[in-house]
Formats: sequence, C-alpha cells, structure tokens
Amino acid sequence: MDTVYLNGSFVPKHSASVSIFDRGFLLADGIYEVIPVYSGQIFRLAQHLQRLNQSLQAIHLDNPNDDATWKQILTDLVSKNGHKNLAIYLQVTRGAPAIRDHQFPTETVVPTVLAMCTPISPPAVENLDNPPLCRAITLDDIRWSRCDIKSISLLPNLLLRQQAVEAGANEAILIREGEVTEGAASNVFIVKEGLILTPPLSNFLLGGITRDIVIELANTHNIPLKQSTVNIQALREADEIWVTSSTKEIVPIVNLDDKPVGSGQAGPMWRRMARVFVEYKQSLFSSGEN
Ligand code: PDD
Repeated sequence: MDTVYLNGSFVPKHSASVSIFDRGFLLADGIYEVIPVYSGQIFRLAQHLQRLNQSLQAIHLDNPNDDATWKQILTDLVSKNGHKNLAIYLQVTRGAPAIRDHQFPTETVVPTVLAMCTPISPPAVENLDNPPLCRAITLDDIRWSRCDIKSISLLPNLLLRQQAVEAGANEAILIREGEVTEGAASNVFIVKEGLILTPPLSNFLLGGITRDIVIELANTHNIPLKQSTVNIQALREADEIWVTSSTKEIVPIVNLDDKPVGSGQAGPMWRRMARVFVEYKQSLFSSGEN
C-alpha cells in the first residue's frame, strides 16, 4: 500500500503531493472510482472504466487516458502493492490552474490523476454463516440532483453517514419524497415475499457496479428481481434489506430505525444471492475473464 500513481509516475505515498490550487482540493471539482481487486485481479474493470468515462463526460472533462492505458496503470499499481485483496481509489480532478475561480479554467490545465490502493477485508458474502449484522437508519436525502455522477464532492454523503454512525448504525438509507434512493455510500435492495426490488436508475442515485452484478445474477439464476420504486412503507415492511457496494459487496441490514428487519437475521434470499455472488467471482477468476 506504499506506492501510489500520480500524474504519470509511481511514487511512494508519503512523497506524493498536489498543488494547493488543485480544483479537487479547493472546489471538489473532480470525479472518482473505487474498484475492488481480489488476490491481485481487478474486478469488473471495464464497467468501472465505463462509469469513469460517464462521470468525466458529465463534468465536461476529457478522459486523460484510453481504457488500455488505464488498465496498464492500474495493473502496474496493483503489482507494486502486492497482489492482495485491495480497493483501488482512482480520482481525476480538473487540475491546478493559476487562480481559484468557479468557472472552468480558460487556459489549458492538465487534469490531476491519482490512483492508490487500500486493503479490503473479506466482505460479508465470504462469511455466509456469520455475516456482519449491520444496522441502518432512514434519513432525508439532502443531496443534489446529479447523484448519478461519481463526484468527489461528498459532503452531504459524509454528513448522512456520520449521522447514521452517531445513531449506532452502519449506513443511512436515503429517502426522497417518500421513496428510497440509495444508501449514503451504497445501493439498496429489499426482499418481499420472495421478490427482490431495487430502485430504478435515475439522476438521484449512482448506478452501482455491484448493483448491476446483483441484477445480472438474479436474471441468470432465475431469481425474481424487479427494478421498481421502493417507498418508505415497503422498506419498513421488507422481509430483507441489503446494501451493496464495491468494497463491501452485498451486506444484509438486520435492523432499521431500531426495529428488526424480518427475522432480525441475514435472510435466506441474501444467503442465496451471496452464494451466487461468490461463485460468480470464482468463475471469473478461474476463466481469467474479469
Ligand atoms: N461508494 N451509491 C453511492 C452513493 C456510493 O458511494 C457507492 C459506492 C455505491 C455503490 O457503487 P459500487 O457498487 O459501484 O461500489 C452507490 C464507494 C465504494 C465509495 O465511495 O467508497
């Protein structure tokens, strides 16, 4: 975890630095990705690079690299940090112009590109018999209307997550006009009478890569799943609630707003999906297709 990639070079993390004029630092003018790596193999890279490109387009910033170059950079980064279970954090900002100004720089400014690794511990799906028992609270979704962009401007998400933590919970499930959008740093699924539901994509939530995998796996394994709005009442009456993200995969929520969800344990549908997810990861790695 000691080597980072910064603007074309691999450098020790303690000597990596950026200008105080960087628009990421001053204005949160940038986007990011978080990409899981299992035993040195980068998971779903193509999909993460596609979303990176979408986020860059949405903020009118040219992609500094083509996909092959990104792949080379990230593969080198992973090998320099040991082939372990990692999360790659990748960030692109609008660079460091001469002055701070709200409007985009009129002169040519090179974007700042950072990629670094942090270790990830085995996610809930690896602990089928003993998953972490996570709690959530519902909070008003106070964020903006472009939550589909993976922006580094995360202050609303941080405030919401912190409020959840201070209430003794692990995640905040966000409600906009009576409907679930997503978690503060995750997507949300519920299960009711054998049917999995997740809110459809919109500008009010991030198209999670893990969310996509769960939808795909439900399709290929004939597990009933619908992308449909989930209102607060449906959330409260759910048999199971899960939250998904690249670093934690599929996490069962066993308590919502201080009340048990279903049986108050990880549910049978979670166990089924988690098993399918583990098998899927193993099949990708053994075929070398990831
Ligand atoms: N966040 N929604 C939000 C707001 C998120 O921050 C995340 C993940 C997700 C799930 O997306 P994915 O399955 O592609 O990880 C949904 C990452 C992990 C983070 O900010 O660290």
